[in-house]
Amino acid sequence: MKRLLLCSSLALATILPPPLQAQELITAAKAPQQAPARRPDVIFVPTPQEAVDKMLEMAEIKKGDLLYDLGCGDGRIVVTAAKKYGIRAIGVDIDPKRIAESRENVKKNNVGHLVEIRQADIFELDLKDADVVTLYLLPSLNVKLIPQLQKLKPGTRIVSHSFDMEGVEPVEAVEEPATIYKWVAPIKTKREAAGAEPGKEKKAVGR
Ligand SMILES: C[S@@+](CC[C@H](N)C(=O)[O-])C[C@H]1O[C@@H](n2cnc3c(N)ncnc32)[C@H](O)[C@@H]1O
Repeated sequence: MKRLLLCSSLALATILPPPLQAQELITAAKAPQQAPARRPDVIFVPTPQEAVDKMLEMAEIKKGDLLYDLGCGDGRIVVTAAKKYGIRAIGVDIDPKRIAESRENVKKNNVGHLVEIRQADIFELDLKDADVVTLYLLPSLNVKLIPQLQKLKPGTRIVSHSFDMEGVEPVEAVEEPATIYKWVAPIKTKREAAGAEPGKEKKAVGR
C-alpha cells in the first residue's frame, strides 16, 4: 500500500507543476498587467519596409551605434537595424500588445542579442546614450519631444517618418519612397537660432 502511494505521488509530481512559494506568489501578483499604463498618444500604423530602409540609410548608421525607436509598434525598425547593420537597438512602446508583437518579431529574426524591447512612456525616457532616434508619431508629439531631443549628444541623428518638427529646421528631407525628415543634434529651434532663450517655445497645437 505504502509503495502504491509513493508511486502515485511521484506520478502526480511529474504531471502537476510545483506549488508556488509565498515569495513567488507575491512576485506574480506584482507582475506588470497587460494594459497600457495610459492610452497611447497615437495608434499603431506600421512604417512600410521600404521607408524603414530609407530611414536607416538616412541615419548614416555606424558600427557600434545605439538606435532608439520611440513608439516601436511591431518592432520592424529595431529588427531591421539589428539585422541589416548589426547595431544595438531599443524599441520603446507603451502598449503591451505592441510589446508582445515586437518581442515575437525579435525572436523570429534571432536578434535578441542586439535588440531590447521596453514597455515605457517615450516622454519619460533619458536618451543620452542614443546615436540614432527614429520616430513615426505625430507632428505635435515630435514637438513635445523637443526638450528630450535637445539633450541628445552631439552628432545623434533623428529621423522621422511622415512628420516634421515644427520650429526645427531639418538638415534633410525626402519625399520618396515616403516623406522622411532628418535632424542632427544639437537641435535648435528657429527661435533659439534667432537668439531666443532655450526652452521658451510656444506650445504645439495638435495638427
Ligand atoms: C505610428 S506607430 C509607429 C510604429 C513603428 N515605429 C513604425 O514606424 O512602424 C506609433 C507607436 O507609438 C506607440 N505610442 C504611442 N504613444 C506612446 C507613448 N507615450 N509612449 C510609448 N509609445 C507610444 C503606439 O503604441 C504605436 O505603436
